[in-house]
Amino acid sequence: MRALQITELSGPRSALQIADLPDPEADHPLTPGSGVLIDVHAAGVAFPEVLQTRGEYQYKPELPFVPGTDIGGVVRSAPEGSGLAEGARVAACCMSGGFAEVAVAPAFLTFALSDELDFAQGASLVMNYHTAYFALKLRGRLAEGDTVLVHGAAGGVGTAALQVAKGLGARTIAVVSSDDKERVAREAGADEVVRSDSAWKDEAKELSGGGVDIVIDPVGGDRFTDSLRSLREGGRVVVVGFTGGSIPEVKVNRLLLNNTEVVGAGWGAFVMGKPGINEEIGAAVNRLVDEGFVRPIVGARFPLDHAADALELIDGRGATGKIVLDVRA
Ligand SMILES: NC(=O)c1ccc[n+]([C@@H]2O[C@H](COP(=O)([O-])OP(=O)(O)OC[C@H]3O[C@@H](n4cnc5c(N)ncnc54)[C@H](OP(=O)(O)O)[C@@H]3O)[C@@H](O)[C@H]2O)c1
Repeated sequence: MRALQITELSGPRSALQIADLPDPEADHPLTPGSGVLIDVHAAGVAFPEVLQTRGEYQYKPELPFVPGTDIGGVVRSAPEGSGLAEGARVAACCMSGGFAEVAVAPAFLTFALSDELDFAQGASLVMNYHTAYFALKLRGRLAEGDTVLVHGAAGGVGTAALQVAKGLGARTIAVVSSDDKERVAREAGADEVVRSDSAWKDEAKELSGGGVDIVIDPVGGDRFTDSLRSLREGGRVVVVGFTGGSIPEVKVNRLLLNNTEVVGAGWGAFVMGKPGINEEIGAAVNRLVDEGFVRPIVGARFPLDHAADALELIDGRGATGKIVLDVRA
């Protein structure tokens, strides 16, 4: 099979090489001795792969290795009892190995892909939309009618959070840094859009009539204190990531004074080894697909041998929605 490997830790432009490799066995490290073998049509690209080209991500396989977490494709074979049939269209999270014509995913992270979505949208689905649902509903305790503020709202997690929040009956305020990103946030269904370089905290308080219920924060950095200040009493900041570069620190007296919460949402760590939770989240996300709320926004697509362009787009803060590799183009 044709695959893309990280062969050295020299950054997005030079670390990746096309290779001809044997097809993998139907065996995934998370489900030893079994796995769903998938003919990959599209593979999602995300920030961790950029970090992996520099050896800066927490998961550091031996070189060379095939990166790639999220895929959209067709089942070649599936373990008995998995409910997945040969030839089924699926969205899957394979954790690694997705930048290849054939990949293997654990059955509990492989989900039927609606005919409403193409393979590129399938490759945008599991990590971002499952994280969004997990962060909003399971960790943020979102209730119908809540107001949700989303940072990095034109990004992969951001657009997913806007759509999922809307589908769960919330009103959304998107925070973005440019006109182009404002357009994407509106396309993702944001009710209101504010700019990260403006007085967004005051605007959010005004737009929400005194404070928002939930902040979804994949950015972190120096805007964190204003996120806390933008909450109403009982509101929650849900910590999802740190694309802003620095990990914020919280003065806990703020939480006491305003009766607010900071909640961590680490999807991967939580769902691994909990098939029931994955089933519940997968069903909820697919329901939102069927209802028309979830339609992943694919911001740019590249053929496999132009993956460096995809990684550099993300690295340069130029990505919107999900960036996808067309593996069989
Ligand atoms: N907790 C979990 O379980 C989980 C799951 C999936 C992903 N994540 C994490 O969530 C984060 C977001 O992932 P993503 O796929 O949504 O990324 P993305 O598509 O690249 O979007 C990230 C957004 O962050 C904003 N940003 C602010 N400062 C930035 C900077 N210095 N460099 C780059 N972006 C900056 C950008 O929006 P503006 O330009 O509009 O500010 C950008 O749109 C990542 O850290 C990822 O690892 C966490």
